[in-house]
Amino acid sequence: VKIHPKVAEEAARIVSIRRRLHQQPELSFQEHGTAKLIVEELRGARVDVRHPVARTGVVATMQNGDGPCIALRADMDALPITESSNAPYKSQNEGVMHACGHDGHVAMLLGAVRALDALRSEWRGTIKFLFQPAEEGHAGAVSMIEDGALEGAAAAFGAHLWNFQDVGTVGVRAGPVMAAADRVTINVRGRGGHGAAPHQAVDAIMVAGHLLVALQSIVSRSVDPLDSAVISIGELRGGYGYNIIADDVFLRGTARAYREEVRQLLRRRLGEVCEGVGRTFGAKIELEYRDGYPPTVNDAAMTDVVRRAAGRVVGEAVGEPYMSMGGEDMAYYLRRVPGCFFFVGSSPLGASPRIPHHHPSFDFDEAALGIGASVFVNIALDMLRA
Ligand code: NI
Repeated sequence: VKIHPKVAEEAARIVSIRRRLHQQPELSFQEHGTAKLIVEELRGARVDVRHPVARTGVVATMQNGDGPCIALRADMDALPITESSNAPYKSQNEGVMHACGHDGHVAMLLGAVRALDALRSEWRGTIKFLFQPAEEGHAGAVSMIEDGALEGAAAAFGAHLWNFQDVGTVGVRAGPVMAAADRVTINVRGRGGHGAAPHQAVDAIMVAGHLLVALQSIVSRSVDPLDSAVISIGELRGGYGYNIIADDVFLRGTARAYREEVRQLLRRRLGEVCEGVGRTFGAKIELEYRDGYPPTVNDAAMTDVVRRAAGRVVGEAVGEPYMSMGGEDMAYYLRRVPGCFFFVGSSPLGASPRIPHHHPSFDFDEAALGIGASVFVNIALDMLRA
């Protein structure tokens, strides 16, 4: 592994920032302390700081003569999870935890700011460093774009520390890398009655049972087996007592796909199955399909840039990323400008099992921070070569 020398000089500082952030995790759109720390850390650099952007976000613009403009992005928020850890930098904010590694994302990007400031003789142009709130389900990226954070940028890059891969590896891939993550809410409306007289009622629980099974036929029977999709119903509520036929059942779940065409197929089939099952049993089934994040799709040319930039850091250990059906609001930037979202392996070597993201004992190998920051630096140097 070849950490960029200017990043290596910042290594201790990057780790210290990460640990301070880890101790003070904040939920989506509440990242006030996080933003304060970012603004303080930016004081030493020659950047133009805008804050607040998108409520709790920060944009630092580094200008260095004439040239193209690119955006580098880090998300800032934590999760409503109680940390289970003995680490000295454990969360001090009860019930909130940096369980996805966004503390590391901020630290890496701040490291890149200082390194690129010191490397001004090697590049020309403008770099917008986007510190974005509310990635975890609240589409902070949309607020950032609405507030003009992306204005002028011709390309955008973002990274995720990735515990599904060993530290020392970087996952890079053209095309879709994260799924569309939509939300499905279903109300099954039957007619209540006595458990002894089902013929006088429409049993919403029985209908929901059929619906639950029929919904699972969508991915297995309607989606091309070579495409990826998932429908998961995570919530089912209804009923009053052992001898009462329920009038109402409520279901909630998620529908996910990598490709927009598959996403539209899921949406259409969900509607048809709800309609059909309802008609079969004389119930009314209401479906609300709410778009979540779109698929995160990497541009081929920008992906090549990242592959080369990462290759200079980890050599042969640049490969295909571990893919998941998770969603990521980086998708919104990549719909506006070409760019690439890449994965920085962060699982400690030999860890078995690997601790997944969003787990109460999530942690990562901090050696990944220097790797991620170095890749960001190399991307900027290549995109903005003097
Ligand atoms: Ni995340």
